Amino acid sequence: MQKKPKNVQRRRKRSSSHHSKTPSPHHSSSGFWEERYQSGDMPWEKGAPSPGLVDFLAAHPKLPRGTVCVPGCGTGHDVRAWAKAGFKVFGYDIAPSAIRVAAERTRGAGLSAQFQLGDFLADPPPLRFDWIFEHTLFCAIQPNQRDDYVRAVLSWLKPNGQYLAVNYLIPDRDGPPFGTTREELWQSFSPQFELFKEWVPKSYPNRTGLELMLWWRRKAIQRTPKTRKRFGRGRPRV
Ligand SMILES: C[S@@+](CC[C@H](N)C(=O)[O-])C[C@H]1O[C@@H](n2cnc3c(N)ncnc32)[C@H](O)[C@@H]1O
Repeated sequence: MQKKPKNVQRRRKRSSSHHSKTPSPHHSSSGFWEERYQSGDMPWEKGAPSPGLVDFLAAHPKLPRGTVCVPGCGTGHDVRAWAKAGFKVFGYDIAPSAIRVAAERTRGAGLSAQFQLGDFLADPPPLRFDWIFEHTLFCAIQPNQRDDYVRAVLSWLKPNGQYLAVNYLIPDRDGPPFGTTREELWQSFSPQFELFKEWVPKSYPNRTGLELMLWWRRKAIQRTPKTRKRFGRGRPRV
């Protein structure tokens, strides 16, 4: 039987990027990510939340304290940052070890958040959220799954929900991580979301200048004459 390390922070020295460059035919699967946690091969694990998220929460102390979904939450640093700021946070990850460690560390920190094993791209939303926070999941999945990702954000978010993303603008095509561009993000999200604000955040040292934060608000559902007729004078269904 395979022996599981107790502490997933044990790390192999590998590439300086946040994922290994070793290609694998299985890297969109749960098994691929679980193996990365079990072997400690997790260069994305920085031991701290996204600096851009920390600054965002400090700069916006008056946001209404709603529900937040952190898909691909890893060991939960970002979840704990939202929880500390008073939000009701739910972390999801496809790797069982990530969920176990995230839950243990959150309990250990005396914070309250929920963690659940799940595939953000394939599972139905357990509830619909006020916020979705993205941090290195978009670049972790296969580029050909990005349309599924946008669909998942739409189905897990409330109709008036907000999508806050720390995007990783690297050129890599042989990931994970798979790079993206502002143009691709604009094309993927602008049809359904209004861009409220964008900025280059403070980053972990090895990502300085490579991240872009985009704060999107979901567009109100447009009522066409046809839907108005079908739903009469009531509120549009969403
Ligand atoms: C690069 S790591 C980032 C972890 C965390 N967001 C961070 O920045 O520390 C990508 C994470 O996404 C998870 N993941 C990959 N595909 C997923 C999916 N379809 N649904 C949920 N989690 C997924 C992996 O298990 C891994 O924990």
